[in-house]
Amino acid sequence: MVKLLDLQAITMQHGDEYKAAVNRVIESGWFLQGNENKKFEANYAKYIGTDDCIAVANGLDALYLIMRGYIELGIIKEGDEIIVPANTYLATILAITKNNLVPVLVEPAFETLEIDIDKIEEAITTKTKGVMIVHLYGRVAYNDKLGEICKKHNLKLMEDCAQSHGCEWKGVKTGALGDAAAHSFYPGKNLGAFGDAGAVTTSEKELANVIRALANYGSEKKYEFKYEGINSRMSEPDAAVLDVKLKYLDEDNAKRQMLAAYYYENIKNPLISLPSRIPNENNVYHLFPIFCEHRDELQEFLKDNGIQTMIHYPIPPHKQECYKDWNTRIYPITEKIHAQELSIPMNQVIDDKEAKIVVDVLNAFK
Ligand SMILES: Cc1ncc(COP(=O)(O)O)c(C=O)c1O
Repeated sequence: MVKLLDLQAITMQHGDEYKAAVNRVIESGWFLQGNENKKFEANYAKYIGTDDCIAVANGLDALYLIMRGYIELGIIKEGDEIIVPANTYLATILAITKNNLVPVLVEPAFETLEIDIDKIEEAITTKTKGVMIVHLYGRVAYNDKLGEICKKHNLKLMEDCAQSHGCEWKGVKTGALGDAAAHSFYPGKNLGAFGDAGAVTTSEKELANVIRALANYGSEKKYEFKYEGINSRMSEPDAAVLDVKLKYLDEDNAKRQMLAAYYYENIKNPLISLPSRIPNENNVYHLFPIFCEHRDELQEFLKDNGIQTMIHYPIPPHKQECYKDWNTRIYPITEKIHAQELSIPMNQVIDDKEAKIVVDVLNAFK
């Protein structure tokens, strides 16, 4: 069986170091808001290239807190519009609606799978206050034109980096391309914790301060509450584990990139198309999506041949029950991606033999 993601094997690569890190926390008797969080925050901010990193409980909270922070600062107000790709994991959009903001869904480009930057300007209204890009599949969703549009229209550029740890555009890391970015350390991510965890990176000092308070019940000083906040903190064992994993992130991403290069070179089946490779992007292949008009048959064929796959994602946000009012809308490119996408095994522990099996089975599909 070639697993899509073998978390046990991935974890055991550095199992002893994780055990030592968790043991250190156990022996310290200090489980929240301690030195492990401080250390990871400093190291992650340095890695991403921002002045600040605020460790929080998960990626959804990180997204929510960025916009809540801008609302508290008076930069965005409830009812304002945020441009977001129509093809994303639901959490990106939940964070917008949970803040009583209005998501304006913009189609992706099929070639990039990311928000179609050429369609952003036509979606801007007087109520637009921000653009939330999502570096989906570990691919860059930014280009210089987007930066110029945001500057010209005075929009906050926010990044959902849940799938893009280590990704770069012209040498700048995702998470440092815009004004503020949300990161998820869900266990299956390129940088994954042993439970839920997340972070915000930003170089806006005021925003960082508000988010730090908001994530701690709205408190800057013990038992004094300035904002109506939430409880969203990263545990010390998770921070300790993530700090170990961060050391290996570039090495792990390089292995993913080598596997991706092998796939690009060797998958040769006219029924299957691969995502395009864009100049200036250094993608980290959180997932490796392939496209096929007979996706469900292909998935069955791969399963019968011992290859695990997953669909990211079977139902687009506008077709979800929780957003009933949008169910009749039509986003053709988003729907095409959702109908044809299949994620094939991609991670740092897949060996050459397994990679060859995946390629041979894909090429044998008729
Ligand atoms: C694109 C995207 N945004 C946000 C999230 C939410 O992160 P979390 O699961 O840590 O809340 C995820 C995934 O989990 C994601 O893939």
